[in-house]
Order: sequence, then structure tokens, then C-alpha cells
Amino acid sequence: MAATRQILVTSALPYANGSIHLGHMLEYIQTDIWVRFQQLRGHQAVYVCADDAHGSAIMLRAEKEGLTSEQLIANVHAEHSSDFADFLVNFDNFYSTHSEENRELSELIYTRLKDAGHISTRSVTQYFDPEKGMFLADRFIKGTCPKCAAEDQYGDNCEKCGATYEPTELKDPRSAISGATPVLKDSKHFFFRLQDFADMLQQWTRSGALQDAVANKIAEWLDSGLQEWDISRDAPYFGFEIPGEPGKYFYVWLDAPIGYMASFKNLCSRRPELSFDAFWNADSSAELYHFIGKDIVNFHTLFWPAMLEGAGFRKPTAVNVHGYLTVNGQKMSKSRGTFIKARTYLDHLNPEYLRYYYAAKLGRGVEDLDLNLEDFVQKVNSDLVGKVVNIASRCAGFIHKGNGGVMVEANPAPELSSAFTAAAPSIADAYEKRDFSRAMREIMALADKANAWIADKAPWALNKQEGKQDEVQAICALGVNLFRQLVIFLKPVLPTLAADAEAFLNVAPLRWNDHTQLLANHQLNAFKPLLARIEPAKIDAMVEASKEDLAAANSTAPTGNGELVKEPLADEINFDAFAAVDLRVALIEKCEFVEGADKLLRLSLDIGDAKRNVFSGIKSAYPDPSKLEGRLTLYVANLAPRKMKFGVSEGMVLAAGPGGEDIFLLSPDQGAKPGQRVK
Ligand code: 2FM
Ligand code: ZN
Repeated sequence: MAATRQILVTSALPYANGSIHLGHMLEYIQTDIWVRFQQLRGHQAVYVCADDAHGSAIMLRAEKEGLTSEQLIANVHAEHSSDFADFLVNFDNFYSTHSEENRELSELIYTRLKDAGHISTRSVTQYFDPEKGMFLADRFIKGTCPKCAAEDQYGDNCEKCGATYEPTELKDPRSAISGATPVLKDSKHFFFRLQDFADMLQQWTRSGALQDAVANKIAEWLDSGLQEWDISRDAPYFGFEIPGEPGKYFYVWLDAPIGYMASFKNLCSRRPELSFDAFWNADSSAELYHFIGKDIVNFHTLFWPAMLEGAGFRKPTAVNVHGYLTVNGQKMSKSRGTFIKARTYLDHLNPEYLRYYYAAKLGRGVEDLDLNLEDFVQKVNSDLVGKVVNIASRCAGFIHKGNGGVMVEANPAPELSSAFTAAAPSIADAYEKRDFSRAMREIMALADKANAWIADKAPWALNKQEGKQDEVQAICALGVNLFRQLVIFLKPVLPTLAADAEAFLNVAPLRWNDHTQLLANHQLNAFKPLLARIEPAKIDAMVEASKEDLAAANSTAPTGNGELVKEPLADEINFDAFAAVDLRVALIEKCEFVEGADKLLRLSLDIGDAKRNVFSGIKSAYPDPSKLEGRLTLYVANLAPRKMKFGVSEGMVLAAGPGGEDIFLLSPDQGAKPGQRVK
């Protein structure tokens, strides 16, 4: 094996205002497998990440939830950390861009760029919300499309006719935050002169650092000429103030990638063997890889290398881009229950199933990856349970019963074990190139060979014959050895299965090169089932729970369920839409649990002239449903009925609160009568 490499690896920093879902997990699992592979090979591979904590979306979201930005990002950090840990994503550090290290590094990089003449300033005219006292990014301005006159369109494009325009072209513009009519106002902005780095970028983007498809896309941008990049935002803004420029803040995308460095720097303070300079100096011999999705390619392949170059740091060795996740062939959908949060998945399924499925489908390219839920069940059950684990469970019993758990020294099929060893370089090459689907195919082909050989030898039949016991022990010892080799090859993907297998095999943590040796005269520990089959019912439950997440968020909005509330603030409705809501007083006659639903209660309502059945996601706040019986509540009577797994929900009761135990059913004054309309 080549000399030990020093490798720093990152995944994109998730925004600190929403939950992690299975689309995000594709990237973290891809990166984690690659890092674990490098570590298994004996290299020094360090994996850092952080929450991307700055920006106006986070500031407004916190404000809406009655939190400070710091409180919001702390809550989200805790949630993200446990989601990643439970998916076995083994960050060396999961930090935050809102950190002292990041402030210092952002100031340093900015100052170096400024001193070298790469920062310019000029006045920019933008819409300003006079009520809120802040400049409005395009997505915070709404108005009437200048082309087709559709109302309620966002600041830079029309969803109806597809036109793109400047926010100043919108008719009847208004702030999506306060509803006020915005005014045009000038302000000084700071720009990074990206065009100063055109030659370097021409060269670097063709240096092998990028996949061909990505390099070709970038070439189009490079050929059409680089523009300077606006890196400042005016107060109020949640971020870092620009040194010497009161009231001016770094745009979130300026300090986000610097967050990679800051997370590593923070790690260095705890890990003396790591040197910040050795990894980041311009002449560093360490390798640096960023794993990202295709939506943020320009930031990582143009702005970021230019910032690093301009500030005297090294550039990435490579930026590895992956495609988007689809579920069942379509964009993830909240109503279909395929917008699946990491936590919802974990509530129902083992993380290693998904790690394997993603690995089996991930290639080197930027194509989208489809999580087909039927195929997922079939593939995991057939490959992991039916092929890999099966080898050990077929052989272990005979060794325990026939030889006290000791594997004999024997190799009744040397051509088979050498085929396994011979396959290792190609499997390693596939991992190295992120061609995990090829690695998984090659590993499963070996598993097929092992199973076919064992089936042919049929130790279960031999075991019944006189004088064949030695042969049985020899076959099963090789079977377990082949299983052990497969476990080594799969260890980057299935770390828990590997740890459980190591316990059964009674060996120290396996490393890649251990595949060259076979165990002989070796005592095994008791065999425990290593992986259960996926029951399709669990998939159904996960999909239903994902729909239920939506139902819960809808029925209790606004309760701060980040993913499900259109950010940053709910769309405005006009008075006619408001007046069309048939709001009534309802008497809760009966309230009960819904079997199989974690969050829902079934309410039987008397609304004066009729009875209604409503499912409401308020169980966390009202664990004793009988307490709600006999109470009055507010009820939306003309909401279209919604078919749910548990029945049809007719309308919606109104509640408020931050979520969890704090959801409060809105009740009218005493004395109100069921059916009374609410004005
Ligand atoms: O697109 C996103 O989700 C960003 N938060 C990614 C940032 S990656 C890095 F540059 F910080
Ligand atoms: Zn239009």
C-alpha cells in the first residue's frame, strides 16, 4: 500500500433552520463511506462539517419562533448532531459557522483579499422594508408579474408564466415579511473581484479536480465572463460584521465554506497530532476533498478556490459532486409521504439498510439517485440478509456444535479464498473513485460464489453422514473466513454490522489488509443474528408517519415544524381569502387515540348543525384525550376533507404553540355555542 496519506474531507454544511431528510443523508452517507474506507486502509482521514448558521432566513425564522438566532441554531445543532450520529456518520467534528474560529478566519481571509486589491465597493439600490427596517432579498418581495399580471409572485421570477425579472419591475411590490410597500434605497456593498482569478480558475477547473460534467458546466460560466460577487449584507443580519465597517455583514455564503476550515481548526485544538497549517498552507501536501450536491457547484468551484488562492491558502484537491435524490422516481413529496426526515426513517428502520442501498446505487457521476422503496426492501433483504449474513449463520452452528466454536485450520477451496483476495484491489479502486455501486456489485458477486460453494458442499447433509465431521468443520471454517473477508470489504458501508461480526469472530477491529489472512485454530464467540430482514410494513409505517408529520404540522401550524412551514414566513392571503374561511365554535364530544399514529388524536365534534370527525396532531400536548372531551374549540368548517390512513379528516381544529407539550387548543370564551360562527 502507498504511504499514509493525510486527507481532510467535508460534506456541505446543512442550514441550521430545518431538519435533515433522506436527500441530505445521501451526501453524508456517501462522504462517510469514503472517509471510513480511507481510514480502514490506514490513512489519516479527517471528516469535518458544521451547521451553516448565518443569514436572514435563520434570523427571521428565530424571530418568528420567539427565539434568539443563537437559541435556534443551538436547538438545530443538537437535532442535526443526533441525526448524523444515529446514521453512523462519523464526523471528527460537527461544528457551527457561528464560532470564534470562523469569525477570525473570515476576517483574516477578507483582510488578505482586501490588502491584495480583490475587494471593491459600490453603491447598490435595493428594495427596503420601511416597517421592518431591512433590505429585502428577492425572495422576500412579492408583487404582480410585469409580464402576465399574475398576482403574488416572488421578486425575481413568475411561477405562472416563467418570466424572470428584476424585483423593481414587479407591479405593486410589497414586503413578504411585513406586508409594507418597499421603497428603493441605496447602500454601500462590498464585492469580491472574482474576475481577478479567471486564469487560475480556467486552469484549476481543468486540472482533474472536477468531474468532466461539472468542468464542462463551469467552462460555460468561465467563457461568458466572471462578475464580481456581492459579499456584504446590511444590518439587521445574523452573521459576522465586516471589520471596520459597522452595520455591514459578511453574506452567509462568504463565511460558510470558511466554516470547513474553522471546524478543522477547532478540531486541531483537541487533537494535537493535527496541524492546521499542514492542511491549509498554500504548499500543503495534504489532500482536501469537498463533497457537495450539484446545486452549489458555483460556490465551491469558483468563489471558494478563488478566495483560498487570493488569501494565500491551498485549493481543494477535488470537489466531488453528486446528484439529487428522488423517491419512487419522483421528487420527494410531503403529500405522498416520501419527504422522509432522517429521524422518521430512524424511528422505523436500521440506518445500515439505507447506507447499503445508497452505496449500491452511487456512482461517480452527477446523475440523480432514486430510492425506490420496493427495490430497497428487495435489495437489502436479498443482498445483505440473503447473501452476506447467511454465510455466517449457515456455518457458525456447525462449528459451535461440532467443534466447541473453534475454526479448524483448513482451506478446502483455495481457489475460492484466492479469488476473494484477488478481488480486493479492484474493490478498493472502486471505493477510491467513489464508484460504490461497482464495489457493491463486486462484493456481492463474491458472496454469490461463497454461497454457491457452500450449497454445493452442503455441510448440513454431510453432517448427517458417518465420518464426515472433519469435512464439515473444514467447509464451515472456510465459510466463516469468506464471511470475514466480505465484512472487511463492506466495513465502510456497514460499520455496526462489522463491529457485531468482529464480536462474533472474536477479533480486533478489522483493517483492509486483514483480508489477506485467514483465521485458523481460532475460537469464535456465540453467533447472534446480525441483521433482520426489512419488513415491508415498516416502510408503509414510515411513509404514513411522513404524511402524519405533515398532518401534525398543518393542524397545529404555526408550531415551528421547520421543514413544513414555507420559509421564511407564511404567504399572505388577501381579505377575500380570509373571509372565505368558515370559522366556527365546535364542541369536542369525544376524543380518542388513533391506533398506529404517534401524533394524532381523533376528535368527534359537534358543530351545531352537524357532527364532524377530525384528526389532529396534538397528542404530544394532550396525552390524556379524555381531558379534551366537553371542551369548546375553534374549527375550520370549510376545509376540504382529507383522506388519511386512519380515515377522512373533515376540517381542522385550531391550536397554537411551539410544539411538543406546548400546543394549546384555541378555545372561545365560555358561553359560546357549538356552531356559532367566529367573526
Ligand atoms: O446549500 C446549502 O445547504 C448550504 N448550507 C451549503 C453550504 S456548504 C459550505 F460552503 F458551507
Ligand atoms: Zn407571469
